[in-house]
Amino acid sequence: MKNVANVYLSVLILIIAVCTTQVFSDSELDRRVKNFLAARQGQWKDMNVPEGDGQLLHDIILKNNYKKALEIGTSTGHSGIWIAWALSKTGGKLITIDIDEGRHKQAVANFKEAGVSDYIDARLADAHQLVRELEGPFDFVFSDADKDWYTNYLKDVMPKLEIGGCFTAHNVKMRGTGIREFLDYVKSLSNMETTIDDSSRAGVSISYKRSDGP
Ligand SMILES: C[S@@+](CC[C@H](N)C(=O)[O-])C[C@H]1O[C@@H](n2cnc3c(N)ncnc32)[C@H](O)[C@@H]1O
Repeated sequence: MKNVANVYLSVLILIIAVCTTQVFSDSELDRRVKNFLAARQGQWKDMNVPEGDGQLLHDIILKNNYKKALEIGTSTGHSGIWIAWALSKTGGKLITIDIDEGRHKQAVANFKEAGVSDYIDARLADAHQLVRELEGPFDFVFSDADKDWYTNYLKDVMPKLEIGGCFTAHNVKMRGTGIREFLDYVKSLSNMETTIDDSSRAGVSISYKRSDGP
């Protein structure tokens, strides 16, 4: 009887230890990411998103419990850190692509320092080709590379975007760079529900896939 009580007690202690470790390690990562972002605030210089847009992407992922993310245009990793931070909470992973070796390397270093490397697969590649080749599926996409290719990125991603998934694009307030064509195209798709968040200077389009294509 005493042995059985001891076994129960040991199991209970183990469960408490596992739960405590989980809670601790979660908040540990939050602290690390927050510290990193606070230290870099106002210093992002490589066409990176402003903080508010990073927060917006983070919140969309959490709200919808997304797990399979794709970012087109890593730069030095500011948006990638916000996306990966959200994915660390949903149990997901991000593939992010950039064609520029210097920025890619800096992003990889930043991901490590922020503590989110485990949630990111950073690729040095031409997204024109790689986006077409990636198998998917994805439930969250952030398009932030060459604006005149946005429509093509959307066309290549659509078959791999899950129903309920979301295609977001940055800088949609820009003019004369393919953005108009992209917005006209995405709004013409009857299975995509598109809104524009214009709270930042850049503007972010948010398009939810409601069904398979026409
Ligand atoms: C606006 S920046 C991305 C900023 C990043 N999302 C952030 O907030 O930290 C655009 C990036 O897209 C990359 N890019 C442009 N054309 C590309 C292509 N064809 N394939 C991959 N990356 C590309 C550029 O090298 C640049 O680093």
